[in-house]
Amino acid sequence: MGSLRTQVGIIGAGPAGLMLGHLLHLNGIDSVIVENRSREYVIDRVRAGVLEQGTVDLLHAMGVAGNLQREGLRHDGLYISFQGQRHHINLTELTGGRAITVYGQNEVVKDLIDARVATSRPLYFEAEHVSVGALDSSSPVIRFRHGDVDHDLRCDVIAGCDGFHGVCRPSIPAGVLSMYERTYPFGWLGILAEAAPSSDELVYTLHERGFALFSMRSPKITRLYLQVPPDEPIEKWPDDAIWEEMRTRMTTRDGWTPTVGRIIQKGVTPMRSFVAAPMRYGRLFLAGDSAHIVPPTGAKGLNLAASDVLVLASALKAFYEGGRTERLDEYSDICLRRVWKAQRFSWWMTSTLHRAPEETAFDHQRQIADLDYLTSSRAAMTSLAEQYVGLPAEVSFASAGLPS
Ligand code: FAD
Ligand code: PHB
Repeated sequence: MGSLRTQVGIIGAGPAGLMLGHLLHLNGIDSVIVENRSREYVIDRVRAGVLEQGTVDLLHAMGVAGNLQREGLRHDGLYISFQGQRHHINLTELTGGRAITVYGQNEVVKDLIDARVATSRPLYFEAEHVSVGALDSSSPVIRFRHGDVDHDLRCDVIAGCDGFHGVCRPSIPAGVLSMYERTYPFGWLGILAEAAPSSDELVYTLHERGFALFSMRSPKITRLYLQVPPDEPIEKWPDDAIWEEMRTRMTTRDGWTPTVGRIIQKGVTPMRSFVAAPMRYGRLFLAGDSAHIVPPTGAKGLNLAASDVLVLASALKAFYEGGRTERLDEYSDICLRRVWKAQRFSWWMTSTLHRAPEETAFDHQRQIADLDYLTSSRAAMTSLAEQYVGLPAEVSFASAGLPS
C-alpha cells in the first residue's frame, strides 16, 4: 500500500483536469492527476474542435499555446445554411474583434500532457479502481491501484474532472445534488475525412432531412456531422452512404458542396443537456463534463470546462495564499451562471437546427422563420456572435495568477 499526499488531487486527464493541474503549477500549488485510461487513448479521442476566444487567450496566458498559435485555424465568421442557401455571419465584426479558433481537443490535450510532463509533477495513466472518500472532512482521499500498488492519496481538496461517466459525481450522497436533464431524440454521426475543406468557415445546415455540420481540423482534414437517430448503429452507414447523405443535406443552390475523401474515423454520439448543482460537496469540486453536459451544436463543452477550472484555480490561489475559503464557497454559483447561459444557447442552436421526430409542419416553419430572422437582423446575428465567441469570463486571469 502506497501512502501519498498532495494539496489538490485531480481525477481525470481531460481538458479540465490537465488545465487545472497547469494553472495550479503556475501558482506553486501541488497536484496529482489520476486518469483511468492510457495516454494514447486520451490523446486519440476525437471530440471538440472549436475554441472560444477566451479559451485561446487562457491557453496563451498559461504558456501552452505554441502549437495552437502555429496550427490553430482562426475563423472570423461562420455560415448558417437553410433552404439551399448559405448565410454568412461575421463574428469578428459583430463582437468588436473577437473570433473562434478551430483546433482539435486531442491537440489541446496533447499539448497539456506535454506541459505536465515537463513540470515533473505526477500524472498517473491507467489507474484502476479509482474511488474517493472522506469528502466532508478537511483531508479527503483518492484511492486507486497503479501497476500492482494500491494508493491512498490524501489531499486538501479533490477536483472531480472525470467527465460525465466518472466516479466523483456519483460519490456525492443522495439528495445533495439537484439534477437538471434533457435528452434529445437524435444524435450526431461524426466523421474525419482526408479531404481539403471546401469552405473556409464552418457551415451549420438545417435541411429537410435533418441537421448537418461542416467543420475541419487542418488544411487537409475535413470534420463533418449528420443528425441521426440517437442509438443509430454505425454499421448502418457504409462510407458511400455517409457521403451521399452529407452531400444531399449540405449542397447549396450555388453549387457549394463538401469535398469527398477517405473516411479515417467515424462514430455516433448521443446528445443531452445536463446540469448537477451545486458543483461542490464538502472538499470535492466538480468541473467540466462531470458537472454539466451540453449538446455539441453550440460548441461549448470544452470551453465551459476551461472557464470552470479558471474559477477553481483562482479560488484555490486565494485559499492557499491567505487561508480564505469564501472564493471556494462562491465557486459553484459563479460557474453555474455561465453554465446556464451556455446551456440556453446550446439548447437553442440544437432545437433551431435539428428536425425532431414529433415536430409538426408549424414547428418546421417556425424554425425557418427563426433562421430567416437570425440571418437578416443585425441584432439577432450580434446575439449569436457574442455567445458563439464566448461570453466574458466571470473571474480575471490575474486572480488566477496569470498575466492579463
Ligand atoms: P472529459 O474530456 O470527458 O475528460 C474526463 C477524463 O476523466 C477522461 O480522460 C476520462 O478518461 C477520465 N475519467 C473518467 N472516469 C474516470 C475515473 N473513474 N478515474 C479516473 N479518470 C476517469 N466542446 C466544445 O467546446 N466545442 C466543440 O466543438 C465540441 N464538440 C464536440 C463534439 C463531440 C462529438 C463531442 C462528443 C463533444 C464535443 N464537445 C465540444 C464537448 C467536449 O468534448 C467536452 O465538453 C470536454 O471533453 C469536457 O472536458 P472534461 O475534461 O470536463 O471531460
Ligand atoms: C467540430 O469541429 O468538431 C465541431 C465544430 C462545431 C460544433 C461542434 C463540433 O458545434
